[in-house]
Parts: sequence; C-alpha cells; structure tokens
Amino acid sequence: MENFTFENPTKLIFGKGTISRLATEIAPEKRIMVCYGGGSAKRNGVYQQVKDALKDHFSIEFWGIEPNPDYDTVMKAVALARQNDIDYLVAVGGGSVIDATKFIAHAIPYDGEDPWQLAIHNELITRSTPLAVVLTLPATGSEMNHRGVLSRRRTKEKVSFITPFSFPRFSILDPEVTYTLPRKQLSNGIVDSFMHIMEQYMTTTGNSVLMDRWAEGALLSLIEIGPKVLEHPTDYDTMANFMLCTTMALNGFVGMGVPQDWATHRIGYELTILYGLDHAETLAVVFPALLTILKEQKKEKLAQYAERVWHIQDGNTDQKADKAIEKTVTFFRQMGLRTRMSEYGIPAEAVDIIYQRLKKSGAVYGEKKNVDAEMARAIFAQSL
Ligand code: NZQ
Ligand code: ZN
Repeated sequence: MENFTFENPTKLIFGKGTISRLATEIAPEKRIMVCYGGGSAKRNGVYQQVKDALKDHFSIEFWGIEPNPDYDTVMKAVALARQNDIDYLVAVGGGSVIDATKFIAHAIPYDGEDPWQLAIHNELITRSTPLAVVLTLPATGSEMNHRGVLSRRRTKEKVSFITPFSFPRFSILDPEVTYTLPRKQLSNGIVDSFMHIMEQYMTTTGNSVLMDRWAEGALLSLIEIGPKVLEHPTDYDTMANFMLCTTMALNGFVGMGVPQDWATHRIGYELTILYGLDHAETLAVVFPALLTILKEQKKEKLAQYAERVWHIQDGNTDQKADKAIEKTVTFFRQMGLRTRMSEYGIPAEAVDIIYQRLKKSGAVYGEKKNVDAEMARAIFAQSL
C-alpha cells in the first residue's frame, strides 16, 4: 500500500426536504451569491426552495453557467461578486455549476493579473471564498471533493484543478430534486461515477484488500442500480442510492493508498473541447479502447474485476480480461451511451489532430505515466 494523507472536511446533508437547511448552515451576516446553470432549477422548484431558505440572508444570483463551464462566464460571476462584496457562495446544480463556483471562489480574492493561471498552477490558490452546494445532478462527486474542471473555449483548453480550497463547506443532497433529470443526464451520471471508481481501481492487483473490495462493492451497486435509475427515475430509494454512490465514487474514500489511472478522463477532455461530447460520453468511448491497448499491463486486475464484479470464472487470465472488457462495453451501451468515436460522427482525422495537441502539451497520464501522445493515438485509433 502506498503512503497517503486523507482529509475530507465537507459536511454532507442528505435526504428529503433538506434544502431548507441553507437557512441555518450559513451565518446570518454572510453576503451570499447563489450560482445557477441555464434554468432547470427554476423549472423544477429547486430555485424556490433555495430562495425560501435564504429569505433572511442577503443574497444575489448569478445565472448562465453552461455545461463544461467556460472561463469567460465564470469571470463575469467573479466581477459581480466583487461588486457586491460577496463572502459566501452557493452552487445550485451539477458538476458544471459546482466546478465553476469553485473557481469563482478562488478567483474572488486573487489579486494576480491573470486568474486563468489559478487553473493551471494550482499552488497559486492560497485562499478562497467559502462555498456550499445544493446538488441537482448525481454524477461527478464534485459536491464532496477538491477537484474542479474548467474549459476555455477561446483557446480550446479544458483543464482540471485540484486544491484543498475547493472542498465545499457543506453539500445538500436531496434525491427528490433528481426526478426531473433528462434520461441522457442519468446515463451520463451512471457511467461517469462508474468510471470514477475504475480510475482508482483498474491498475494493478494487491495494493489494498479493503480498497479493492470497496471499489468492487461500489461497481456492483452501480450495475444493480443503473437499470433501475433509467426505469424508475422518480423512485426515492433508487435515486437516493444512486446519489450516494456517485458521491462516494469520487470523494477520496476509494483511493486510499492505491495507484490511480485517470488517463481516460484526461485524454477524454479532448473529445469534449474539440467535438462537443458530454464528459461521460468521452469516457464510454475512450475506456474500452484504453483497456484493449493496455491489456497486458492491466491483465491481472482485469481478471480480478471479471471474477468479482462480472462473476466470470471460466477461462484463463487473458480470456477473463477480454470478457471483462466486453462486459464493460455492454454495460455502457445498456446505460444508453455509445462507445465508438464514429458513432458520434467524429472523423478518422481526429486521431491525428488529438495526437498533435497532446504531443505539444507533453503531458503523460496513467498509473505508469506511459499514456503519452503516441499511446493516446493508439487508443483513439482503437476507439474509431
Ligand atoms: O444548466 P441547467 O439548466 O441547470 O441544466 C443542467 C445541464 O444542462 C441539467 N440539470 C442539472 N440538474 C438538473 C438538470 N436538468 C433537470 N433536472 C435537474 N435536477 O443537466 C445538464 C448537465 O449538467 P452538468 O452540470 O454539466 O453535468 P455534470 O454533473 O455531468 O457535470 C459535468 C462537468 O463536470 C466535470 C466535467 O468535466 C464537466 O465539465 N467533472 C467534474 C469532476 C469533479 N469536479 O470532480 C469530475 C468529473 O470527472 C468531471 O470531469
Ligand atoms: Zn468524470
């Protein structure tokens, strides 16, 4: 097992009718800015619940944070917050609104000339405006982690920033607010959270007995819950289980002392920034191809995953690994996602375009840091 330090200061407030807790969790003298996406919160009643809860606080609103939040949008929010001496932020939405609000929180007190540097050089983040979350889309785990992802369409960049200042003070998870989610977002949430576990699990065997069992338990839960979520999206217990799974998938608990991969996530960003795929769609396209290309390296763990998660007992290690990849593809497709670039109309030239971009960046990913531009080219070619 590797050395690790674990800390997660985010308080979780979970269950029916809990949005009203905003009233008491935030000190009465705070000057609050509530950040929203494009309008789903107004249509499903979440907005009214937040407004009612904050009726005795000073609060203003910022609307229009788009999926895959853009730097230019968040900087408008930073200007509004500064004009109004805001000292507390509340994000109401999914991963995009939460991540944008995290960046807004870091940028408000930053007095350097170019706040984009905060997204690139995370060590520049040394203080931050406190933030809380009302989660409306179970998927990313952003409500209880120290990660954020920001896009800059003008320069075709999508970057991930990690800092302890990004942990929300508290997050409210009321499963009833998920009832209005479109089917596509449910599919995305299932696959994204499945992949968060996989990025912390599908590496090498023998690192941690407990973390392996924990990850396998979460994967089995998602496999059990996934079809129910798609069939019964207004069943409270189904959605409550789903919401808890997605939070637990990426709040640090399954990653203690184990190597992590994250190559699928990082090279997948290219498909969002260049071709507009949703985050989860990129994962469903890249991961099966990555497993195929890196099968030798990950074979032992693939066989363990085959046995314990998909109950495949027949065959040798190699055959089990192949079956595990097949089962994963079938699951993603059952959840409603496509698994090949061509199914999204992405042309074969994309492979070389992405290769050139990754080569220029010089970045390397994966638990063995061997997913470089060349390896990524092979993965994207495999996923065509
Ligand atoms: O904008 P509104 O109108 O609110 O609509 C949103 C949006 O169009 C809608 N929605 C949210 N809650 C709803 C709802 N519609 C009906 N009813 C509700 N209750 O859903 C759409 C998608 O929302 P978005 O926040 O973009 O989705 P998601 O939560 O999947 O977030 C994706 C972003 O998170 C990043 C991704 O890269 C992407 O930018 N990630 C963040 C991570 C993190 N911070 O830890 C980890 C992830 O791996 C991921 O990279
Ligand atoms: Zn993800």
